[in-house]
Amino acid sequence: MQQVAHPTSKGTVYLEGPCPGPYLADLTMNEKLTNFRPPDKQKEALIMITGLPEGMIYIARHEKEIVGYVTFHRPDECSRWIKHPKVLELGGIEISADWRRCKIAETLLKLCFTNPVMENYIVITMEMCWHWDTRNTKLDIWAYQRVLTNLFGTVGMKRVPTDDPDIIEHPANVLMARFGQKVPAGDIALFESMTFKNKHSNVLSIL
Ligand SMILES: CC(C)(COP(=O)(O)OP(=O)(O)OC[C@H]1O[C@@H](n2cnc3c(N)ncnc32)[C@H](O)[C@@H]1OP(=O)(O)O)[C@@H](O)C(=O)NCCC(=O)NCCS
Repeated sequence: MQQVAHPTSKGTVYLEGPCPGPYLADLTMNEKLTNFRPPDKQKEALIMITGLPEGMIYIARHEKEIVGYVTFHRPDECSRWIKHPKVLELGGIEISADWRRCKIAETLLKLCFTNPVMENYIVITMEMCWHWDTRNTKLDIWAYQRVLTNLFGTVGMKRVPTDDPDIIEHPANVLMARFGQKVPAGDIALFESMTFKNKHSNVLSIL
């Protein structure tokens, strides 16, 4: 497990991962980690992801408390991206409202992408605006979209046009991807052929 100390005005936060499930089980969740589900349910979800074959959890920890996390796992079974063998989804990133604007998200993401295993994957993130915390941040969806695309851009993720139904459901939603340096050209071509299902139905039909 990698670990870096990240000093903030509120104290030092340790950025760590990939974290084993039992390690997470011994920590508490910050009570404001509520963006996706209640903190106890989110902790269960994080532990569950560590048990998945390609699942990885990175956390920001203050003393014995998880104050932020990033999840990586294979795409959902219902998603078109599961048919690609090299796609890993950055499923979620959340920093507790008590600890935001301390560069924790940016530094945690940078730590994740120092892991050499990331170079074997096409890492995607499906940014859907109904998951965004516009209430606490007081950002409108377009400003929020800019914050997220800039944030993920710091680790080399780029916007990818697609007709994925989850993305086109709202104009603010975005798909972003980062191609690892060891991903073969054929796998990149396959990914590109999957971005628009209608245009490339001939390629998808053989998957
Ligand atoms: C988005 C989120 C992860 C950012 O976490 P964070 O630790 O506060 O982000 P950082 O401190 O690393 O911010 C890096 C840069 O992003 C921009 N940024 C982040 N939050 C911002 C905000 N609320 N308003 C304006 N800019 C913001 C800034 O440029 C910031 O750098 P700066 O503070 O030096 O200006 C956090 O707000 C969060 O958990 N939101 C709820 C969950 C969510 O929306 N996740 C994304 C979808 S999966």
